Amino acid sequence: MDLHLADKTVIVTGAGSNIGRDIAHSFASEKANVVIAEWDEPQGKKVAKEIMDRGGKALFVQTDVANNEQVTLMAQKAIAEFGTIDILINNVGWGVDQLFMQETREKWKKMVDINFWGVINCTRAVLDQMIEQKSGSVVTIGSDAGRMGEYYEAVYSGCKGGVIALTKALAREVGKMGIRLNVVCPGATVPESKDAVGEKSLWNEMFDVFTPEIQVKAAKAYPLRKLGKPQDIANAVLFIASERAGHITGQTLSVSGGYTMM
Ligand SMILES: NC(=O)c1ccc[n+]([C@@H]2O[C@H](COP(=O)([O-])OP(=O)(O)OC[C@H]3O[C@@H](n4cnc5c(N)ncnc54)[C@H](O)[C@@H]3O)[C@@H](O)[C@H]2O)c1
Repeated sequence: MDLHLADKTVIVTGAGSNIGRDIAHSFASEKANVVIAEWDEPQGKKVAKEIMDRGGKALFVQTDVANNEQVTLMAQKAIAEFGTIDILINNVGWGVDQLFMQETREKWKKMVDINFWGVINCTRAVLDQMIEQKSGSVVTIGSDAGRMGEYYEAVYSGCKGGVIALTKALAREVGKMGIRLNVVCPGATVPESKDAVGEKSLWNEMFDVFTPEIQVKAAKAYPLRKLGKPQDIANAVLFIASERAGHITGQTLSVSGGYTMM
């Protein structure tokens, strides 16, 4: 199926690592212009180079999604380079598993800034352009934690639940302007290799905990008895972002081997 993504301009936040990296590569394979909005400069540049080495179009803009000024500038640079913003993928997310009662306020603040404010900032930054164009598609990477409330992930779950509600509410506001917003919720999605993650990836704190033996045990909680791969998420994101999904808005799609069903 041709997703009609050629020459579309797509911003992918956190495209330096794991899921965001595969999403960026997948859009580039469809001949879209890819803006890599990532705060890890070496990793963001590395993914941009990988795309350009394969003949794709990529622009790296160092961006902290929690910093509204940087986000606004990033959107302006995307328009200056490619002329439009057709699609935004709010992929950045961060959290490290710990019991709520043992976490510091500092860590909660960091999670809310990155997981919730980051989505608000980036979405707001692209909407003027999308309203002017009378078209646009925003896909936010949520989490099954935001649908069911995951043990050890209280504030992270709250933020991810928040982006789901934000998406639904905004979808009602801007649908009449030709703009769609949806959420894709991964379950556990393991990087292909250590090379596929950046230094700032949450996986650097997970590799030692989430060993291959633990992964086999974890997979038993999934109806399909397997954990996700970044490409599984990218496949769903590309479809729902594309005009092929043009009658879908305000929806939450779990791509998690059936971990949650609702
Ligand atoms: N991997 C999983 O098992 C899993 C499960 C459920 C949901 N998710 C969600 O999927 C998304 C991607 O997860 P991942 O596993 O690829 O994570 P990752 O940590 O490997 O990649 C996230 C990327 O975002 C960048 N980043 C972090 N904070 C940033 C900021 N403030 N500004 C700009 N860039 C920033 C990091 O440098 C990194 O490159 C996240 O939203 C995460 O919450 C992941």
